[in-house]
Amino acid sequence: MLKTSASSVIPSQYLKNYFASLKSHHHHHCCQRRLLRTTTTTTTTTTTHTKPLTSSFLPQRHKKSWITTLLLVSSITTAIIYQNQQQQSNMSSTLVPSNPEDVMVIRDITPNVVTFSVPFLRFGCIPIGGRGTVVKLSSGSIAVFSPVALTASAKAKIASLGNDVRYLVATDIEHHIFLSEWKTAYPNAKLIGPEGLQEKRAKVTDDPRIGHEEFAVVFTKENKLTLKVDKDFDRDFEYEYVDGHANKELVFHYKPDRVLIEADLMFNLPAIEQYSKVPEKEKPKPGFLGNFMMGLQSTQGDAKGMKRFMWYVASKDRASFNESVKRIDAWGFDNIVPCHGETIVGGGKEVFEKVFEWHLTGKK
Ligand SMILES: [Fe+2]
Repeated sequence: MLKTSASSVIPSQYLKNYFASLKSHHHHHCCQRRLLRTTTTTTTTTTTHTKPLTSSFLPQRHKKSWITTLLLVSSITTAIIYQNQQQQSNMSSTLVPSNPEDVMVIRDITPNVVTFSVPFLRFGCIPIGGRGTVVKLSSGSIAVFSPVALTASAKAKIASLGNDVRYLVATDIEHHIFLSEWKTAYPNAKLIGPEGLQEKRAKVTDDPRIGHEEFAVVFTKENKLTLKVDKDFDRDFEYEYVDGHANKELVFHYKPDRVLIEADLMFNLPAIEQYSKVPEKEKPKPGFLGNFMMGLQSTQGDAKGMKRFMWYVASKDRASFNESVKRIDAWGFDNIVPCHGETIVGGGKEVFEKVFEWHLTGKK
């Protein structure tokens, strides 16, 4: 969610592949149409000229090309917007709410999991929300995922949980802006993140929020299957580094409460809770494009827009992405805490399997 670097995390090679995949998709439809046309020509030459035949054929052809065009346009729009978001403003101050204490919603999701939900706008107009997750481990220590602003209320909540913050997790290459603030407040905490993040932060020299702290645990494509965090952490969590995702997602399963914690792997818009403390007249109006974008990040109905987004845009290395999704699906979670949109309490596995159906079963 939170951008601090102008460098794109979607390599141009990836976008090239993406557009190539669209082209072959489109080509496939063209072939079908050509095939249909040939069939019709044969039919029309062997029968006497009939109006109904022509008119019943044309609308279907138009319908097909219309659907293809729509799919193409929506996919390209998404890709462009997704890439643009990687080149957003450098300064974290333009990305986070200026009054977090007034608008943050602190909520106990399960006995040991608390969420800090805040408003967050993408492109200055699309309300996708932000969310940090706090987990009290069986050992009594605390892990914080995708930390958001450390407000007085957030601090008080941490104190009520025993104050022993041991782990601060950047859940992907983007959700790291508040790490320094938390590390300063809880110096015993280890920083955990995906490969490339420390280097990305090191390049930022003009943002007072972004420090250059060392990461204690770094997930890489090579070490992801064998990397351990710590004894007490590993007792409670399963985790997967989704290196095939454009944003380098880290996904965690807190086994005692069956909670899946993720950042950009799966949105669940609209962001209702995250805007619940924002006065009605100050709530953003997303407009046509915003609503269109939000529709692509909804898990409702058949979630077709989301499936396309995951398949064509988010999965940069699809084979690896699919492997990751399968490993996550094998976990026994029932609840999902995303960073953007609504938290799912109960029935989370079903939603996950619907949204990632193509990755789990292999889209044809
Ligand atoms: Fe995000």
